[in-house]
Amino acid sequence: MTTESDAVEVGIIGGSGLYDLEALTDVREVRVVTPYGDPSDALVVGSLGGIRVAFLPRHGRRHQIVPTNVPARANVYALKSLGVRQLISVSAVGSLREELRPGDLVTPDQVVDRTRNRRETTFFDEDIVVHVPFGEPFCGRLRELLGAAARRATDAVVHASGTYCCMEGPQFSTRAESELYRSWGLDVIGMTALPEAKLAREAELCYAGLALVTDYDCWRAETDDVSASGVAEVMRRNSAAAKASLVALLESLDPEPKCACQNALATSVITPLDAVPQ
Ligand code: ADE
Repeated sequence: MTTESDAVEVGIIGGSGLYDLEALTDVREVRVVTPYGDPSDALVVGSLGGIRVAFLPRHGRRHQIVPTNVPARANVYALKSLGVRQLISVSAVGSLREELRPGDLVTPDQVVDRTRNRRETTFFDEDIVVHVPFGEPFCGRLRELLGAAARRATDAVVHASGTYCCMEGPQFSTRAESELYRSWGLDVIGMTALPEAKLAREAELCYAGLALVTDYDCWRAETDDVSASGVAEVMRRNSAAAKASLVALLESLDPEPKCACQNALATSVITPLDAVPQ
């Protein structure tokens, strides 16, 4: 049971290469039981800059969960049940554009779904029909704060916007697919922003992504094709930048956001006919 005083305000879901956040103090591990099964791992709850934060490694702390099997509903439910209202998602991405270089950071503002219908994408699949607005899949306010924090705290080039192509994986793309996504004008490619962003919206959380560019996928003739070991190596080198960005964000964050994301269900429910008084 969460009480006012121990409520967690901010959630961080760490991706490949980001399995903890040492800057947290007063840390304890919390295992949350959810109607959707177990989250990816125990949540690590602690404090930073006066804000209570819950950290969750998306793929488990041993990196044992493939993107298709990430229990996104359990993860978002668990964070929400601890009190989280703002959620930051960190992930590794490939670049689909020359000017987005390995080592750069991107705060995406759009997403294109190239997952293959193998993921649970809604909390509302029984009894009630809910259609949340998703024209802006990321919270613009939180995205801007995150980008500004990354610029303050790191030397990395930070791109303020970009369209994230979410593919199923776990295999990387073919060259034809990579070229297709480039021809569509997409900017970065990864495997995890969906359904997380959809579920965060349904849970009425502000949600923003910090995408770390690790490679040029497989379209760029001058560069080796993406490999898991290459992604891991770049993440090892850049996880400090991600952590510094998160710390700077937490130091500047309003724990009481007043945004439309916090009220996303207000206009989204189609009431079942049998619930309408006749
Ligand atoms: N994560 C990091 N690099 C990637 C790529 N090229 N494609 C999909 N996911 C990735």
